[in-house]
Amino acid sequence: MLQQESQGPVMRIEGVTIAPPGGAAVLNDVDLSLRAGEVLCLLGASGAGKSLLARAVLRFGPEAGGPELATGRILLDDRDIATCDGAGLRALRGGEVGMIFQEAAAALTPGRRIGAQLIETLRLRPGTGRAAARAEARDWLRRVGLGAEVARAYPHQLSGGMAQRAMIALALARRPKLLIADEATTALDPVTQAEILALLGGLCREEGLAVLLITHDAGVARVLADRVARMKAGVSWRKARRPRCWSHNPLARGRV
Ligand SMILES: Nc1ncnc2c1ncn2[C@@H]1O[C@H](COP(=O)(O)OP(=O)(O)OP(=O)(O)O)[C@@H](O)[C@H]1O
Ligand SMILES: [Mg+2]
Repeated sequence: MLQQESQGPVMRIEGVTIAPPGGAAVLNDVDLSLRAGEVLCLLGASGAGKSLLARAVLRFGPEAGGPELATGRILLDDRDIATCDGAGLRALRGGEVGMIFQEAAAALTPGRRIGAQLIETLRLRPGTGRAAARAEARDWLRRVGLGAEVARAYPHQLSGGMAQRAMIALALARRPKLLIADEATTALDPVTQAEILALLGGLCREEGLAVLLITHDAGVARVLADRVARMKAGVSWRKARRPRCWSHNPLARGRV
């Protein structure tokens, strides 16, 4: 869908140097671009600056645990995110750019049923009435492999894998252009992790989403990524390239 709307990259990172608050630069002169329907995996050791870069794309500054963005530009659909005002930032975070983090259960609103959270999110889209949102919420639960009864569950009643599925539904329900998944499956057992990754890969392909997948697990990159960018704190940065096993990758094949 999006692929037809926009031929250019969904996101471009140009010459970005990132320093944590009060620290020296952890990433220097980073260039990246990401097209619709493409999964780019950021691979790097702990402390390499992966999460700081993700927060920079959401324009979180030092006050929200984000970096001091020393130099460079980050563009979404050719729009420099530095130009976003308050309303622009609200549209960016969770709207144009969906987010999934490691602790899904913590990211869901406690004490609020999953169905209600989904309906609320869906209704943020202009012109979406309550009945339409309810029907779409049911559909999203089905698409992420959750039973309809989960609509009535509270976040604390879900397993880690179920919470992660609910989080994916919430992130995708607003139809973002770009999805950032930061260590989204690290806390799950290997079987659930593989299931969630396959689900994410399939949904992103169906939706024509661009995905920035952050991990320190090369196996995850092999399974899901079209291209892999390796990051090493402070010193070096290797441009994104296709993983060696790309042609054997059943989820990625035929997508670029
Ligand atoms: N809010 C902050 N204030 C000060 N330093 C920070 C802040 N956030 C990150 N850093 C530092 O910046 C560096 C990069 O952190 P970042 O969280 O981006 O690493 P990461 O690659 O995501 O690591 P991990 O794989 O462990 O999640 C680290 O040295 C970290 O200590
Ligand atoms: Mg991190």
